Amino acid sequence: MASLEVDLSKIDMGQTITVKWRGKPVFIRRRTEEDIKAAVDTPMSELRDPESDEDRRTNPEWLVVVGVCTHLGCVPLPGAGDWNGWFCPCHGSHYDTSGRARKGPAPSNLEVPEYKFIDENTLLVG
Ligand code: FES
Repeated sequence: MASLEVDLSKIDMGQTITVKWRGKPVFIRRRTEEDIKAAVDTPMSELRDPESDEDRRTNPEWLVVVGVCTHLGCVPLPGAGDWNGWFCPCHGSHYDTSGRARKGPAPSNLEVPEYKFIDENTLLVG
């Protein structure tokens, strides 16, 4: 299956873009210091699907997740919800700045696809 090359150079700090990969939306978020700190400082005991932020990304500044709500598959909205990560308007699921499910019916975290950095400004998804 095809990989997708993404130019990161025009993504501003705090901005999330959506790309299409294998027919699904993928969110790429350039996280602020605040976003990163909130994600890293969250105790595992507060998570319904415990995964550390470190295990969900390689470079702290960039979070890459599949943009499909783990409840029933709607596309969550970035920069929204109680944790300022994503909010799914379909039934009210909240995700944090690591894309982890925090509130509402979503049972698990947003999926992290395979990806790697080709260079400082280029990401390869898949
Ligand atoms: Fe997202 Fe139901 S599909 S909350």
